[in-house]
Amino acid sequence: MNCIVVTGGCGFIGSNFIRLMLEQYPELSIINIDKLTYAGNLANLHDLNENSQYEFRKGDICDREFIESILNQSGIDAVVNFAAESHVDRSILDSTPFVTTNVNGTLTLLDACRTHEIPRYLQVSTDEVYGSLGDEGFFTEETSLAPNSPYSASKASADMLVRSYVHTFDFPAVITRCSNNYGPYQFPEKLLPLFISNARNDQQLPVYGTGENVRDWIHVLDHCRGIDAALRNGSVGEVYNFGGRTEMTNIALTKLLLKLLDKPESLIKYVNDRPGHDQRYAIDCEKAEIELGWSPQVRFKEGLQATIDWYIKNEDWVNNIRSGDYLKYYDQQYSDRLSGS
Ligand code: NAD
Ligand code: TYD
Repeated sequence: MNCIVVTGGCGFIGSNFIRLMLEQYPELSIINIDKLTYAGNLANLHDLNENSQYEFRKGDICDREFIESILNQSGIDAVVNFAAESHVDRSILDSTPFVTTNVNGTLTLLDACRTHEIPRYLQVSTDEVYGSLGDEGFFTEETSLAPNSPYSASKASADMLVRSYVHTFDFPAVITRCSNNYGPYQFPEKLLPLFISNARNDQQLPVYGTGENVRDWIHVLDHCRGIDAALRNGSVGEVYNFGGRTEMTNIALTKLLLKLLDKPESLIKYVNDRPGHDQRYAIDCEKAEIELGWSPQVRFKEGLQATIDWYIKNEDWVNNIRSGDYLKYYDQQYSDRLSGS
């Protein structure tokens, strides 16, 4: 591949993906399309400003004319769609932007790619489309979709649209579904960066409900390597699951974080549960291992320590976000939850 378009590249996973791809493939050019919502941050790719293989174009994936103006240029080998509203809590408070970007935006990209006969399209999806597991079992690619939050419903809808384009138009798409990512540049409304930052500032860590919900954690670079493998070697119309084989309850993870940060467990504050909170996510990633030759490389304990070190070293990055308007919306919800209202 010589040139790919990445959408949502100023967010957490997209920025890690772009950096990894440019490191790995020095001949590759990347055009990054990002609307710069509250979660999009140019600072996530500050080190690429002088890189002639990288181009940033501010714009919305729902804007067909804008997308066409980019896909118009010749030599684009693939589009990788990361752009999304990504936070479950926000989707509970207002679902509209989730449907707009995650569903309509994906549809706009599919139509524009079809018109311009882009040879490859990869939809970055999530294990949350499968719903919730009990104590046993794993999500496979064959698991029925049963999304429970407005966020996961919008992602599942997008996946269904991609599937329909493959079947109806022979559209050359692949879908990937990954479990919870951790690593550098994650917006500090998500569990890990929020809790690291709060603990460092001796603020409370709001654990939802009993804290017994289970997530399967994967390092963001393992996810990015999986997307790269699926982009190059995945079969059209197929879904590939990625997970880290690291299941943890939220409370166990919170206590581990506090230990690594040398902070007391008294900072833990149990707050009202998230409505409709999925109990457990766990991924069976055997298909990706067998068909793509992919497997998670980063050991959780080491990845977590490196992630903590990154947030400590890059405290300015976190503080710039937390001192801006970006978290006002979130902070209101946070104080509501802390007060139990
Ligand atoms: P993020 O919220 O950090 O980043 C999203 C990016 O998309 C931001 O840069 C934002 O500005 C951009 N964006 C939003 N709406 C846009 C629009 N209409 N047009 C153009 N750009 C727009 O999200 P993330 O955590 O990096 O997630 C990236 C993708 O990976 C999402 O599709 C998400 O559903 C999926 N995913 C995330 C996880 C996870 O653990 N974070 C796990 C599995 C899948
Ligand atoms: P999150 O990072 O929002 O990812 P997701 O909801 O997509 O899994 O949350 C991870 C888990 O942590 C989830 O079970 C909700 C829980 N959580 C809390 O207990 N407190 C918090 O403040 C946040 C943000 C999440």
